[in-house]
This record gives sequence, structure tokens and C-alpha cells, in this order.
Amino acid sequence: YKEVITVHEISRFQSRSEEFFPLEWYRKMLSEHPVYYHEGTDTWNVFRYDDVKQVLSKHEYFSSEGSRTTVLVGAKNREGTPPDKLNVSSIDPPRHLKSRSLLSAAFTPRSLKNWEPRISNIAKRLVEDIEPNTTIDIVQALATPLPAMVMADLLGIPLTDSGLFKSWVDILFQPASEENAEEIEMKKQAAAQEYYQFLYPMVVHKRTHPGDDIISDLLNVEVDGERFTEDEVVRTSMLLLGAGIETTSHTISSMFYSFLNEGKPLYDQLRKDPSLAPQAVEEMLRYRFHCSKRHRTVKQDNNLLGVDMKKGDVVIAWMSAANMDERMFENPFEINIHRANNKKHLTFGNGPHFCLGAPLARMELSIALRAFVEKVPGIEAVETFDLERHLTTSAVGQSLTHLPVKILQS
Ligand code: HEM
Repeated sequence: YKEVITVHEISRFQSRSEEFFPLEWYRKMLSEHPVYYHEGTDTWNVFRYDDVKQVLSKHEYFSSEGSRTTVLVGAKNREGTPPDKLNVSSIDPPRHLKSRSLLSAAFTPRSLKNWEPRISNIAKRLVEDIEPNTTIDIVQALATPLPAMVMADLLGIPLTDSGLFKSWVDILFQPASEENAEEIEMKKQAAAQEYYQFLYPMVVHKRTHPGDDIISDLLNVEVDGERFTEDEVVRTSMLLLGAGIETTSHTISSMFYSFLNEGKPLYDQLRKDPSLAPQAVEEMLRYRFHCSKRHRTVKQDNNLLGVDMKKGDVVIAWMSAANMDERMFENPFEINIHRANNKKHLTFGNGPHFCLGAPLARMELSIALRAFVEKVPGIEAVETFDLERHLTTSAVGQSLTHLPVKILQS
């Protein structure tokens, strides 16, 4: 079987823009082919909410094990790969529990509370210079820098070095196009090496001088007598960058795409009441995170989804489609930040592998949105913007590379 299955092989999308927001396709699959066997890729494709949830969470039947990487990492050399004991996303319970517990040290509720003002400072700094009657690129201004700066800060990397950090991150998570895949991989490996050499002495120093940061937390954690070495901490940080940067960036730019094109009154509503930011973020994660999907391999023959699945079969759970299932969400194709169960979207997965960074991502996105609406009275789309030309294939699907936003005076 193929490790990487491209979406358009299954969906037959004709363009990047169609793949960016495939509502009609989801609608059709949900009603006509909720469990769909695709011959070309030899995969089962699952779309409805309850089915997707089962595939993600019933690890006795649907395994995460195998060589496929679900959380993407930076580069293929040693410096760019997380340590073996941390392949959280590709092992099943009970083994999974230990890796997950080790990694959880980085995300305690206490840390989240401490991080809030730090993230808020970063967001405010980024929106500070936005002037009325200008046009900004929201990808450059907010979506790309915010997650990288937040991660640098939370890892305990001094602000003075965050420019360096960001330039490595930009290379490490640059989407590779088919023509120049090899060249990009070489650049990524070089960036991973430089990053490693930069971070390693810092980690060694933190062993004896701990701070209030993720690196210090990881150095301290112990599960069943197991601890991280300095080398493993550096490579673990790489895993966190891989899991947390593109995903969060993508959510920010997609959210603004929605404000500009589908939810004009929504921006005004948020401007009047910025405390609605967390609800808006939740609805955007449900409605606008495309195309989110995960693979599993059938572990035991079963008929849980109404068809006979055999051990070894590959199943793709389409979370973004499940988020549009009317059996779960009322009027799912409409944006409604007040829908009571919006938080039940499957964008962060479900079950034992539920996104470990979800509380951080939620907080970061809400803070960013709030900082933006508090600063900017109104926004408008640029009519000549050509979506098709400004999308690229990244780990999360079609992502915006550029999105101009007109900043209004009122
Ligand atoms: C796992 C989505 C942000 C760290 C996952 C999974 C999803 C996901 C769907 C489950 C994978 C599976 O079931 O196979 C997202 C989205 C994000 C986001 C949509 C932002 C909007 C973050 C951040 C971090 C993070 C900010 C940390 C810095 C992780 C880790 C796992 C994970 C470590 C593996 C958990 C495990 O396998 O036990 N994420 N994520 N994520 N995520 Fe996130």
C-alpha cells in the first residue's frame, strides 16, 4: 500500500481551490457513500460522525501502528526526527500511554495558565503596527509568525534568538512540491542540524538552571523510571514544532478567509464583543479546517461500520466531513458560533490520540483573534484575489500562502 495517499486521487478534485473547501463533495459522500471503498488506493473512506469517531477511538479494531507518520516532522535525518520512545502517534494503547505521559509533561494545566499572558504579549506585538487604510497579508502578518514565536517562547528560547528560530522553522515546515522535493529535503536536513546544534547546549544548561518552559518540564518528567536525555529533549521539541506550527497557522489563515468571504457580520459581532473569540475559534475549527483526515489499519476483522473490514485493510477517517454531518450538527453547512455542541467537532481527533496540544491551540487561536479584533475596526476582501494561485499542498491539505486583507477605518 502507499504511504501517502493524496486527496485528489480519491476525490478527483479538479483544482486546489476545490480541495481547499470541498463542501459539495462532503455533502455527497455523507449522504450517498458514507463508507466508501476506493479501488485505486485500496482504502476504506469513512465520512459520518459516529463512524469517524469509532475509527479514531476504537484502537482494538483500528490501529495507529505502522510506518506512516501522522504527525509530520521536520526532516528525515537523525536531528530532525523524534526519539523512538516518543512515536506517540503511531503506537496503540497500552504502549501508547507511556509515551503520552512523558510528553504530557509539556502541557500541564498549570503551564497553560502561565502561558496565557506570554502568548497575549506576542499576539499584541504582531497586531500593534497594523494601520487603517492599508492592505496586509494575514499569512505574513499573523498566521505564520504567531505559532513559531509562541513555540520559541514556550520552549524557553530567548527572544533575541527567535529570529533564527523562525528561519529554521520556516525551512523545516516549508511544503515540498513534487519538482523540487530533493532540494527542499536537503535544506530541511541542514536546518534541522543547525537547530539541533543551537538547542542542545541550551538544554544542557537548563538541566541545572531550570526555567518556566517546556524544555525544563521535559527534563524533569519521569514515567516508570524512564526520563528524557538531553538529545531526546531536543528531538522532542522538533516533534512539538511539527505537530503544532502548521496546524495552528493554517487555522488562522483559514479563519480569516472565512471572515472575508462568508462571515462578514461575524467580524462585526466579534468586534463588538471580543469575548466571543473562543466560540468563533471553535466553530472555525469545525467548519474550516480542511482537509483533516487520519489513517488507521484494521487490527481485527469487524463489521462495526456495516461493511466487512478485514485485518490489514486501510481506513481513512475524514474528520472534516464528519464535522459537516447533520446527524450531529444542526445546519452544519452554516457558520454559527452559538451552536451548542460546536466543541464536539473531530478536528483534534478523538480517543487515546486526541490532540495533546488542543488546549494550547485553542488558547493561542482565541488570544490571537481577540488581539486582532480589539485592534482592527473592520476588514474587507481584496476583489482581485485569486485563490487558486495562492494555495499550496502542505501537511494539513491545501493551505493559503497569501491572503490580502483590507484594513478599514471603522
Ligand atoms: C495529535 C490536530 C495543534 C501536538 C493530533 C491529532 C489531531 C491533531 C487530529 C490526532 C492524531 C490521530 O488521531 O492520529 C491538531 C490541530 C491543531 C493541533 C487541528 C491546531 C489547530 C497542536 C499543537 C500541538 C499539538 C499546538 C503541540 C505543540 C499534538 C501531539 C499529538 C497530536 C503531540 C499526538 C498525540 C497522540 O498521538 O497521543 N493533533 N493539532 N497539536 N497533536 Fe495536535
